[in-house]
Amino acid sequence: DQTAGAPAKRVVVAAPRGYCAGVDRAVQTVEKALDAYGSPIYVRKQIVHNKFVVETLSARGAIFVDELDEVPDGSMVIFSAHGVSPAVKADAAERGLRTIDATCPLVTKVHHEAKRFANQDVQILLIGHGGHEEVEGTAGEAPEHITLVEHPEDVDGLEVADPSRVAWLSQTTLSVDETMETVDRLRARFPQLIDPPSDDICYATQNRQSAVKEIAAGSDLVIVVGSANSSNSVRLVEVALEAGAKTAHRIDQADEIDPAWLEGVNTVGITSGASVPEVLVQGVLEYLGEQGFPPAEQARLVEENLTFALPHELRSARRAAR
Ligand code: F3S
Repeated sequence: DQTAGAPAKRVVVAAPRGYCAGVDRAVQTVEKALDAYGSPIYVRKQIVHNKFVVETLSARGAIFVDELDEVPDGSMVIFSAHGVSPAVKADAAERGLRTIDATCPLVTKVHHEAKRFANQDVQILLIGHGGHEEVEGTAGEAPEHITLVEHPEDVDGLEVADPSRVAWLSQTTLSVDETMETVDRLRARFPQLIDPPSDDICYATQNRQSAVKEIAAGSDLVIVVGSANSSNSVRLVEVALEAGAKTAHRIDQADEIDPAWLEGVNTVGITSGASVPEVLVQGVLEYLGEQGFPPAEQARLVEENLTFALPHELRSARRAAR
């Protein structure tokens, strides 16, 4: 209830948010593989970094494993959207596993760039987070040629073999601003630094960051829906705070909202990471409605129309099954 004279409460939902083309394709890949072949279907790593998605697919018969040695001989295994190193693919082939590769095409693009630079004997400075599956997959394309750069501050201590033969690449889901800061520092140290043919931070990461910036400064609280291991979701919290949100929190779903966060809050901004189903955002809006907030307004920055074809292994399997 609003008392006379109190500022009106508002809920503003950023757009674009939620599923990107690569996540949509990866989730559909598991669903269609289950339809075509039945359970069990093994998935190496989380197909996308979202708890709800993994739980939903598990309930349908997908079995998530960390490594291939947990997959029984002769089984079918799907590689996640984050990509895999050639060593993992070779291991699967050697074991005779049937594989479907759900790597996002925009991650595959970075793998191709890594191979091309390595073939030219150029040292690659890969900007990304150590231990993230995408970084492990990309680094596996050219382990001898890749050096990881995690933070702008790491640039000063870098050692390269030949400063005239260095290039940079990046993980697809980083903060655009922080990455550009790292690149600027790299270029200051290595003036002959070679750029990738196009930015590696993907369209979905860029659009979600730009969209949350639009709503952040006017928000007392920004809620980012996304899982803790989702790089792009975690970046959205940082970007919202940098862009002027008074506070920002990441949650997996509505039941993680602490009612204390809403005390004294008039405007709530909401967004979601690229691996997050819209139903989870709707759950947050329902909760806010119960707390006396009005229906959400939508702040759309750009339209997204990109879609990717399903992995070819799945398309040919489905043709054969007809
Ligand atoms: Fe691909 Fe970017 Fe989504 S790399 S999986 S489109 S976040």
